[in-house]
Amino acid sequence: MSTDNQKKWPTAVFALGLICGSLSGIGHATASPNSTLLLAGGCNICHGPNGVSSGPATPTIAGLSGEYLLSTLEGFKSGEIPSTIMGRITRGYSSDELQALANYYSSRPFSASQQPYDPRLARQGAKLHNKYCEKCHTEGGRSAEEGTGRLAGQWRPWLIWALQDFRSGRRLAGRKMQQQLDKLYIRKGKRGLTALLHYYASQQP
Ligand code: HEC
Ligand code: HEC
Repeated sequence: MSTDNQKKWPTAVFALGLICGSLSGIGHATASPNSTLLLAGGCNICHGPNGVSSGPATPTIAGLSGEYLLSTLEGFKSGEIPSTIMGRITRGYSSDELQALANYYSSRPFSASQQPYDPRLARQGAKLHNKYCEKCHTEGGRSAEEGTGRLAGQWRPWLIWALQDFRSGRRLAGRKMQQQLDKLYIRKGKRGLTALLHYYASQQP
């Protein structure tokens, strides 16, 4: 990705927010708590059919663990997890509805994003992952088992944001993850983080 493109993403997300923010209300305003598919329709507008995202600024939510999905959605809703639009969106849903959506998306198949990456950086990133992240983000970041979210095959621009939020303390990571991130950053700097993200991007079907 060129730096040019990177500068356009925030604008694209903002525009999406304006468009989808009004559309997403339609789905859930008329939905009963049981009609999860109808609820999910409002989410799929941005997250893609069945939660598999085709745009770099919106993460794929299919196939993440139900535990991670629910705690993230509740985190957006309470404001504990920073967001551009998800905070506003989740406030329109009850806890039962968020639980139903978490169950639904965890049952959809994950699909890795097709995106460019640098093979040399990806090789360096694989080593860094094994050293600093594999303990919890197992199977090279592919596992969704432990309530950790999914790193491999997720959109790189989204992961850049997520990591920036952890690094700056806007989003709180667990103590051990924070320690590992800090260690990686102190020893390898920004280039280390970049290599890591090219490794995750390299994991494609
Ligand atoms: C207007 C577009 C839009 C809509 C509608 C939308 N999302 Fe999101 N979603 C985003 C964006 C953008 C992010 C990244 C966080 C942010 O900046 O808000 C995100 C992040 C997420 C994440 C975090 C994923 C991760 O890996 O941590 C989850 C989970 C999620 N959304 C679920 C949902 C669900 C469930 C719905 C329907 C109730 C929904 N979203 C509706 C745009 C949207
Ligand atoms: C001690 C366990 C642990 C270690 C080590 C760890 N993580 Fe995490 N990570 C978690 C947990 C648990 C979550 C999800 C809950 C949360 O929000 O804190 C998470 C979430 C994430 C997310 C958000 C996922 C998403 O889809 O938005 C990213 C990005 C991430 N970790 C990156 C890393 C990187 C990079 C490393 C290595 C430098 C790392 N983690 C090391 C436990 C860990």
